Order: sequence, then C-alpha cells, then structure tokens
Amino acid sequence: MSVPESKYMSPIWRDGIFNGRVAFVTGGAGSICSMQTRALVRLGANACIIGRNVEKTEAVAKDIATVRPGAKVIGIGGCDVRKPEDLKAAADRCAEELGGIDFVIAGAAGNFIVPLSAMSSNAFRTVMEIDTMGTFNTIKATIPHLLRSSCPRVLFISVTFHYTGVPLQAHVSAAKAAVDSLAVSVALEYGPLGVRCNVIAPGGIADTEGLSRLGSAAPETLKSYNAAVPVGRLGEVKDIADTTVFLFSEGASYINGEAIAVDGAAWRRQSALPLGVSHEAKYPDFLLTGEISKDLKDPRKEKKAKL
Ligand code: HXC
Repeated sequence: MSVPESKYMSPIWRDGIFNGRVAFVTGGAGSICSMQTRALVRLGANACIIGRNVEKTEAVAKDIATVRPGAKVIGIGGCDVRKPEDLKAAADRCAEELGGIDFVIAGAAGNFIVPLSAMSSNAFRTVMEIDTMGTFNTIKATIPHLLRSSCPRVLFISVTFHYTGVPLQAHVSAAKAAVDSLAVSVALEYGPLGVRCNVIAPGGIADTEGLSRLGSAAPETLKSYNAAVPVGRLGEVKDIADTTVFLFSEGASYINGEAIAVDGAAWRRQSALPLGVSHEAKYPDFLLTGEISKDLKDPRKEKKAKL
C-alpha cells in the first residue's frame, strides 16, 4: 500500500529535520497515527509502531519504511496499551534496537456509539482503560528513555467532544478529558527536564476508522457534516500529520501543555454536527425513541455477520 507523499504531508517541510530521531507510536498501524509516523520517517526519523494486531502492525511498519531509503521502522504487534508490562517491553525493545526514544505519540484509542442507557460498566471501563490508562501506561513506559533524549517530545491524540459535550460519547469524552489533563501534568512535571507534551484533538478525518465508526455511512449525512464545519470540508490525515511535524519541530519549542484542535473549528459548531446519527435525526428525539441511526456501522454486528 504505497501512499503518495501529498496524502500525508505538505511539501513545506525541510528534508532531514528529524534525522537521528526515534518515534514510538501507539496505535501506529491505525489510519491517523500511521500517517503521522510516515511523515516523521520521511523527514528523517526511525520509528517503532505498536498495535494489538500482529500481522497488520508488522505490515504497516514495513510499508512506512519505504518512504525513505535506509529508514528503520519496527512493528510490534500483540501489544495492548492496557497492559503496562506490554508497553514497557515494547519501549525497551525500541530503545535497544533503534538507539533511544525521542518522540512519543499516544494514539491508541477505542470508540463506539452508545447512549448511556445502553452502556455497560464494562463498556465504559474498556474505553477508559484503552484511552486514559493506555496513555498513562505509555508515558510511564517511555519516560525513562525520553529523559535520555536531547529533544524529548510527547503528543497525545484526543478529541473535542468534552469541550461542549456530545451525546452517545460519554465514555470517550470522559476518557479524553483525562488524557488532556494528563498532558498538562506531564508538561508541568517534566517540562523542567526538557520534555514538551501537547495534545492534538482531530475533528472528523476522511478515510479513518474513527469516522467510519462514528459517522453514518449515508452520503447525505456526510454532506451535512461537511457543510457544518466552518472550513467547509472534512479533515485529512495530512492535516494531523503536518501539525505533528510542527509540534515536534524546533518551530514549536515554546508550545507546551497545549491541546490543539485540528478540526477546521468544527467543535465550535459541534451541536450542528451529525455524530453517530443520520443527518435527519434530531436531538433529543433519537435518545427518546432509541433510534440512533439506521446507517451506523456497528463493528459488533459486522463481526457476528462474518461468523
Ligand atoms: C455498546 C459496546 C459496543 C457497542 C463494544 N461494547 N462495542 N457496547 N455498543 N457498539 C461493549 C461490549 O459489549 C463489552 O461490554 C465492552 O464494550 C468491551 O467490549 P469488547 O469487544 O470485549 O472489548 P475489546 O475487544 O477490548 O475491544 C475494544 C473496543 C473495540 C473499543 C470495544 O471497538 C476496539 O478494539 N476498538 C479499537 C479501534 C477503535 O475503536 N478506533 C476508533 C478510534 S476513534 P460487556 O458489558 O458486554 O462485557 C476515536 C475518536 C475519533 O477514538 C473522533 C473522530 C471525530
């Protein structure tokens, strides 16, 4: 799966700005984090991507390595960010094989559309554990290596849902609010040791797993989503990768403890966005009737249908 450079990076960055750097990326085989990693590697870094699925993680790592001759990209599958011991082993292996860790992206996340009325305790806990505990575990596993780096940078991937509140996303909103808060603690406690830690909160990004899970598949819904975004379009993975390059670069050396929404100002109109519902669904009717969306993808149903 070779990806044209124009899909994951703007042509404005200087070649080699990340020469000699090593990035450690959880969720690195996913649709957003793999493109962030691709951009970092294209600009000189080596990388280690972490995921649960062994085959997918190794295949994506191999593919990312093709963006620059001589690039080293390791894919560590079978690693669950809910397990601190998995992450420690992965971080130690990354440092040993690639010589250290300079950049960390905590991108592993879990999501599904569900109203509180249908959310089990385990469903809430699962997302808290992947998103919040996973981010905490990532920092704990990598910080000893980051503190040996001459330019330690950390980036958490969050959402904008908790800025306003969004129905059907109580678990993710709570989990990512904690992630944002954790980034501030990292910035405050490790800033004096040279670490910069920031957050990117992506909006709806085209061709990503997040959007396919949260957005209705109906073309009219996508159209009305785009129309509600002030910039007038869905985001692209390139938007997130470019912001990542900037935040890890010298150009952002005074930015620390910030959460940056990369969403075309969509969150400021969040109540107008059809999230997890079809465009004709009206709040609070879909909650009162229980008709969330006819077109919504439910990965559990798809899994069952395959069996
Ligand atoms: C209600 C659900 C559910 C659903 C799962 N559960 N899916 N409840 N509606 N659609 C419940 C289960 O019934 C179970 O509770 C509990 O959640 C745990 O489910 P498991 O399948 O056992 O968990 P697990 O195998 O660990 O899988 C985790 C997962 C899964 C989060 C449920 O979807 C996953 O692995 N996702 C990873 C990829 C992902 O989600 N990417 C999207 C990121 S997008 P019970 O009580 O039955 O035991 C993102 C924001 C994007 O983060 C923002 C864009 C604008």
